[in-house]
Amino acid sequence: MDIFKKCFNWNLADKIKKKGLYPYFREIQENEGPVVTIEGKERIMAGSNNYLGLTAHPKVREAAIAAVNKYGTGCSGSRYLTGTLDLHVELEARLAEFLGFESVLLYSTGYQTALGIIPTIAQRGDYIVSDKENHACIMNGAMIAKGALTNFVRYKHNDMEDLERVLAGLPEKAGKFIVSDGVFSVTGEIVNLPELLKIAKKFGVRVMIDDAHSLGVIGEGGRGTASHFGLTEETDMVMGTFSKTLSSLGGYVAGPERVINYLKHHSSALIFSASPTPSSCAATLAALQILKDEPERVGKLLANTKYLRKGLMALGFNIIQNETAIVPVIIGDLEKAFLVWRKLFDYGVFVNAFIPPAVPPNMSMMRVSMMASLTEDHLNKIIDVFGKVGKEVGML
Ligand SMILES: Cc1ncc(COP(=O)(O)O)c(C=O)c1O
Repeated sequence: MDIFKKCFNWNLADKIKKKGLYPYFREIQENEGPVVTIEGKERIMAGSNNYLGLTAHPKVREAAIAAVNKYGTGCSGSRYLTGTLDLHVELEARLAEFLGFESVLLYSTGYQTALGIIPTIAQRGDYIVSDKENHACIMNGAMIAKGALTNFVRYKHNDMEDLERVLAGLPEKAGKFIVSDGVFSVTGEIVNLPELLKIAKKFGVRVMIDDAHSLGVIGEGGRGTASHFGLTEETDMVMGTFSKTLSSLGGYVAGPERVINYLKHHSSALIFSASPTPSSCAATLAALQILKDEPERVGKLLANTKYLRKGLMALGFNIIQNETAIVPVIIGDLEKAFLVWRKLFDYGVFVNAFIPPAVPPNMSMMRVSMMASLTEDHLNKIIDVFGKVGKEVGML
């Protein structure tokens, strides 16, 4: 049997393309902050995770350019060997201080961070205990661990009673590791961390929170989920990414110094992969400094989100409620979702179409994400366009 047969036979994307409704891999020709140029036309970006709009900030751009001039374009080696720059060490120290954890270790992406931590911490015979709606990197990290005979169990989404039920059914002596998104990437909901930590403590289990969508969005000055609940000291470990608020590329894990030291010497995804580029580190450092110096940007982001949510709800759209920067607008039917996406795009608003299996069947959505740099004019235009499209497709 030709193992490529499934590739030659799979044609769903071609069918959607033929109808002119394909939303993915659209080329952005210019990216000037909240407005991007796609297919020669300006469109408001309402789908980026560039939450504070810092990819366009002059200090961030200049820092990246200066790093290229000083260190070159890449590290050509892993952190373990020839790929550790003073920039990596400085960023780790500054992040640890900002987040309030003993130590931080960088990875080359957020995705890789989860793949690096989970199979290294959870080993043969241990249990990874995961929320059912965790990000794919956590699921895949757990799958790698499973290959090494680790057990993978899941509890109902953000359901702490179910977490307790699952833990109560596991062998008392086995090692267990609870992993949850801090802000869930599809629905934008915040994990019930106080209850999760209470249960973890009762069963003597360690916890890691993925703060990819929390850093720069919730918590004091954007310090993330644990800070949001005032529970930084009680949270064992946090991971995250530089590809969202910190406007660059890379990932991090923050935790106790001895645990970070163990990861440094045992984590394959770290040891066998090149370290983040100089420009990525320098841009992240500059963005982190802006976040520290100008925490009001976080307030602006949340005010923008509130404004948009209110406007879309007033029109009659069905929106999943949360207190973060993600506005999930439920469309339902898959074909209708593609049509809504295309019409929004044609009217000059770029959002993300989320379809099964990323969401349950008949729960296709426009996942709108906000940026602090969007102005009231941009927001009003997004709301107007949604209203127009909602009427055209018979939703409103
Ligand atoms: C919850 C969550 N974790 C991890 C990642 C991966 O981050 P990165 O883009 O740095 O690979 C993402 C990105 O989409 C995410 O949403």
